Amino acid sequence: MADESPADGPRGERSTVEPPKSFVDRANVTAASAAAFDDWPACWERAAAMVDWTEPYDAVFDGDRSGGRWFPGGRLNASANCVDTHLAERKTQAAIKWIGKRGERRTYTYLDLYHEVNEFAAGLRSLGIEEGDVVTLYMPSIPELPVAMLACARIGAPHNVVFAGFSAAALAERMERSESEYLVTCDGYYRRGNAIYQKNKADNARISVDHEVTDIVVERLDDESIKLGDATAYDDLLSDHRGEEVEPVSRRANDPLFLIYTSGTTGEPTEVRHTTGGYLAHAAWTSHAVLDLKPEDTYWCSADIGWITGHTYLVYGPLSLGTTTLLYEGAPDHPEKDRVWELIERNAVDVFYTAPTAIRAFMKWGTEHPDSHDLSSLRLLGSVGEPLNPSAWWWYHDHVGDRECPIVDTWWQTETGSILLSTLPGVDAMKPGSAGPALPGIDVTVVGPTGEPTGAAEGGRLTVETPWPGMPLDLDADAADDGWQYVTEDVARIDDDGYVTVLGRLDDTVTIAGHRLGTMELESAIAGVEGVAEAAIVDVRSGGPVDSVYAFVSTDERHEDEARLRRWIADRVESTIGEFAVPERVVFTPELPKTRSGKLLRRLLKDIANDGELGDTSALRNPEIVGEIESALSDRE
Ligand code: WTA
Repeated sequence: MADESPADGPRGERSTVEPPKSFVDRANVTAASAAAFDDWPACWERAAAMVDWTEPYDAVFDGDRSGGRWFPGGRLNASANCVDTHLAERKTQAAIKWIGKRGERRTYTYLDLYHEVNEFAAGLRSLGIEEGDVVTLYMPSIPELPVAMLACARIGAPHNVVFAGFSAAALAERMERSESEYLVTCDGYYRRGNAIYQKNKADNARISVDHEVTDIVVERLDDESIKLGDATAYDDLLSDHRGEEVEPVSRRANDPLFLIYTSGTTGEPTEVRHTTGGYLAHAAWTSHAVLDLKPEDTYWCSADIGWITGHTYLVYGPLSLGTTTLLYEGAPDHPEKDRVWELIERNAVDVFYTAPTAIRAFMKWGTEHPDSHDLSSLRLLGSVGEPLNPSAWWWYHDHVGDRECPIVDTWWQTETGSILLSTLPGVDAMKPGSAGPALPGIDVTVVGPTGEPTGAAEGGRLTVETPWPGMPLDLDADAADDGWQYVTEDVARIDDDGYVTVLGRLDDTVTIAGHRLGTMELESAIAGVEGVAEAAIVDVRSGGPVDSVYAFVSTDERHEDEARLRRWIADRVESTIGEFAVPERVVFTPELPKTRSGKLLRRLLKDIANDGELGDTSALRNPEIVGEIESALSDRE
């Protein structure tokens, strides 16, 4: 039983919850081992020790608090760390357990993974792929995706995973920017029983990319009518190289392991390149210290591999520790709303890591779903992606964890590579609503608009003050008076115990189905539709626990009928970004709310959409528009 009981205090933001003793006694990191982790940067040697190096590094960090490189001189291979290392002790243990959309199951032991990664790596080489070549991977959650990532890592070819839900145009842009001449995709996949033709999107992207593209296609659909053309079939490539072994390329610690694109304020995808040594050490260490993974665990991270969470905590972190990682292709509510709990029960999942938006959806679907399953295999729960509000925290704690599992609310970003803020689950008390303190070896503060220190409790921009191993190449950090700062776009408050509460993001980004997108990207897609004058995107939370995104759209004088325009908007978002990004509602308005200087008042739209207090509208040039928008919103579509 948990030490804490609901009677201990108000279930609000300020109450603290001690981790249960049963957990503390078995935790990977204890109070004593955490205390020894305070001498920056030397403390990170402990993380590096979790990784096998083919050449020892000369220094933990080459630089000072004003920046530098991690583990210079060191060499290693990430694929060898995730696969070969485990052959001695656990070659027959499951490395990846896959559950497909149609209920298919496939298990790869570490030995299976070793063979398939080697054969695919040999296949990639035979197509002319060399160390340093960027290989784009465009696949849903099928085992061939992590296999391809590890095969690329093996030969030192940085991978560029593009989320399968992105459109052809979004794929082409990412291949163009990364100058990637190789693409691994699939013919298609199933969604709620329907076939989605992924290869069509990939072919359209290839046509619009300026350079030649060599492609490999995983045949996932059983559909004879799909022609591979000049593409190579994944299975043929494997059988051509059956039994071959590829010596893992010894990569320098600061050679890129992969690149990934993320969204920021600019409306253009931003490239982030992660290193091999620092990234892997940080991923392995946090999987051990924060997610408490042990080799005998079955662990489920529900993120899509197409985003950073899937890279770090579905693939590199758990596999570097020799854990069994579950890969689920389907939807959480298909065929029934208890699907997630059924899978946890049937696979005896020990650690579950998901996103607040999923937890809020589970809450909405009802407690009868988790309550009808035996979830007693669970030991630890995790959350990432957004602030985990106290009511969702308590629901997760009570109904999923049965009050016996600590929750780690982990804060990090595509740019940080791995977790920077979280409680250590066997050490720290939890404060629902707060992500927790900076991990040992990480220093954070909050700063004012121009980088000056502010009162921690008042809040400001969350800022990391010392380099960390998982930081990417080309990090956008600034020199500060007495060192170095990576100033994030997150607004946060830090309490007297050092616990950070994230209040939101400063830049114009929205989170759709757990994926960060720039409002600009969506708005410019919608503004490209004939008949649309302007668009504003806001995210909506109230009125239901599930998050959604609304588009407020003003139209040209002679606009089309609204139903048609609505369809065009959806089509346009689908073709430029992807179907997942289509706003839940499109609200037409004669004008968007603007200040006298013509600046869009997005905050006001947010308040209206969330039924919030409107606050001061005196800055508006067109205050009459508020009533019109309110009435447009209350007209159900
Ligand atoms: C937000 C996802 C509050 C934050 C790993 C950050 C969070 C952005 C948390 C990064 C958390 C992530 N509490 N907010 N525990 N975790 N965020 O790059 O705004 O997709 O800057 O990486 O998600 O999103 P990204």
